Amino acid sequence: MEKKNYKRTLVTTALPYANGPVHIGHLAGVYVPADIYTRYLRLKGEDVIMIGGSDEHGVPITIKAQKEGVTPQDIVDRYHNIIKDSMQGLGISFDIYGRTTSATHRVTASDFFKKLYDKGEFIEKTSMQFYDEEADQWLADRYIMGTCPHCGNERAYGDQCEACGRDLNATDLINPHSTITGNTPVLRETKHWYMPLDKWEPRLRQWILEGHKEWKSNVYGQCKSWLDGGLQPRAVTRDLNWGIPVPIEGAEGKVLYVWFDAPIGYISNTKDLLPDSWEKYWKDPDTRIIHFIGKDNIVFHCLIFPAMLMAEGSYQLPENVPANEFLNLEGDKISTSRNWAVWLHEYLEEFPGKEDVLRYVLTANAPETKDNDFTWRDFQARNNNELVAILGNFVNRAIVLTHKYFDGVIPTAHELTDYDHQTINEFKDVKATLSENIETFHFREALKDAMNLARIGNKYLADTEPWKLAKTDMTRVETIMNIALQIAANLAIAFEPFLPFSAAKLRGMLGMPDVRWDKLGDIDILAAGNKVEKPVLLFEKIDDSVVEAQMARLERIKQENIIKNFQPKAVAEPCTFDDFAKLDIRVGTVLECEKVKKADKLLKFTIDDGLKGRTIVSGIAKWYQPEELVGKQVCFIANFPPKTLKGIESQGMILSAEDADGRLVVIGPTGPVKPGVQVG
Ligand code: 2FM
Ligand code: ZN
Repeated sequence: MEKKNYKRTLVTTALPYANGPVHIGHLAGVYVPADIYTRYLRLKGEDVIMIGGSDEHGVPITIKAQKEGVTPQDIVDRYHNIIKDSMQGLGISFDIYGRTTSATHRVTASDFFKKLYDKGEFIEKTSMQFYDEEADQWLADRYIMGTCPHCGNERAYGDQCEACGRDLNATDLINPHSTITGNTPVLRETKHWYMPLDKWEPRLRQWILEGHKEWKSNVYGQCKSWLDGGLQPRAVTRDLNWGIPVPIEGAEGKVLYVWFDAPIGYISNTKDLLPDSWEKYWKDPDTRIIHFIGKDNIVFHCLIFPAMLMAEGSYQLPENVPANEFLNLEGDKISTSRNWAVWLHEYLEEFPGKEDVLRYVLTANAPETKDNDFTWRDFQARNNNELVAILGNFVNRAIVLTHKYFDGVIPTAHELTDYDHQTINEFKDVKATLSENIETFHFREALKDAMNLARIGNKYLADTEPWKLAKTDMTRVETIMNIALQIAANLAIAFEPFLPFSAAKLRGMLGMPDVRWDKLGDIDILAAGNKVEKPVLLFEKIDDSVVEAQMARLERIKQENIIKNFQPKAVAEPCTFDDFAKLDIRVGTVLECEKVKKADKLLKFTIDDGLKGRTIVSGIAKWYQPEELVGKQVCFIANFPPKTLKGIESQGMILSAEDADGRLVVIGPTGPVKPGVQVG
């Protein structure tokens, strides 16, 4: 398809819910790619704005407030500021970072709804919804818990069971109860306004399935599957006391559904940024609108919001929605509620000066086509083996050698050899693919291209060996070092979208006041005779102990979660006293206890059982030091047939309880008893 020449670009980034800080999953999925794209267009001198902001309405916020006993406004004030500051700390270069509780947004979203209402674009429907009579409050799905009809989990939510992962309707739950009062809710009739998505289906189908075959396959595929399944009317209002009031008569106590107002937040924030010229970014067909989002937001940005815009009539639809898949952390899904995340504000505190390392790793591992994994080992390896060893090393060598041979003055290039020309041409080729990859949202590949430029630089110095020539041919050394410095200047341009902090440091060292993308590939960026500054290290090695501390923190969180989420197993099938009486359980005193050789898990006990004494081998070595148990009384099964373990005959089984985290705790009487007495 022929590329359209747009006059300007509007980049929007999904508005994160202000019910928690942002984590690496948000960054890799949305904010880092959007920032790379925007910085690139700015470097090209294009008219581009990047819009961000917090999503401050909806049930996730009210639930958090309720848990903490504060108001929803307290919650969003707290997290909006944390999110805004941390994004700035990572160099995410929003032109505005607004919020959906702003006055502009309230009016914009309200007017948008009213316009659709007045045009007759909604349908009204009544339905039955749960109501908590004691709290005098409608219950959103997340405020209802009960037993999952599929797996029996007694703590399933009204919209989803986290044990089996199934989507639910609140009315599916067995024994539903309100999370506010614990009472059984009642079903009451309520009226809501719906977007008839079925009405827009043919246009959406045409627009996406015919008109945007170039969209990423994950996005196109999800849209196609929704469209093929047939679109249903969607409620755009809710019974909730937090949000933008529905601006029509008879809708008292109701608010706009958060997914109706949030995307309008992009428009409101553009208005706040450019009160006089915002409309051209939204309504002029010469604007390219790009929504950066995660995969869970595809249906809202590709189907529902566009249907709202079509119904309104005066807005442009997005040109592309390059949604990413999800980033996992050390093999597990990132989760705010389980605290399984690397939080941006914490990273910035713990790794000062390493903003670009995170940007680099998240881009190199971006979940562009499939879910991907962040691990601390990979973080360390990419820093040490790529940023330090390739990019940092080249820049450092180029500047150190310039100081060594020329007192920091950029030497003049003389006649170029074929090899010089070959190096420069390789550079020009990379520029073309790098640009193409950014423009088509292939940021991982684009980063590899940029890194290849640094590899070319390293190879150039390794092959030309100026340190050897310095003894014989200083004229040639002048040419080599001029080219090496020009390559370094090129790196300052190529890496600016990806690693803005390091690119700025590099510009400072090379004395480059500004950078333009069209200079990439040139070898006359730096003027001979100018001086370069003393080198500062762009990147430093990260030690094992640093990443091991992070991994240990995650391990602690994992254990805490296991304990927090422990649910006793369902009680076993009934058994009779006679069944129980077959087991001869007795108390014994531990006389000796020692580790079993060549068996990590086993301890060998010598037990005073009031008879001849007995030996028991037990698999609890991971949890006890042998001497801790000597003198203790334990319960054991006395009538199991003997069993040989590692050549030792074990005459019974010591009873223990397995805690939620798998830890074994030996069971014994709470006070001293005669060895050999029976338990029953
Ligand atoms: O999924 C989320 O985190 C939503 N808060 C994203 C909203 S994007 C936009 F529509 F505002
Ligand atoms: Zn379930």
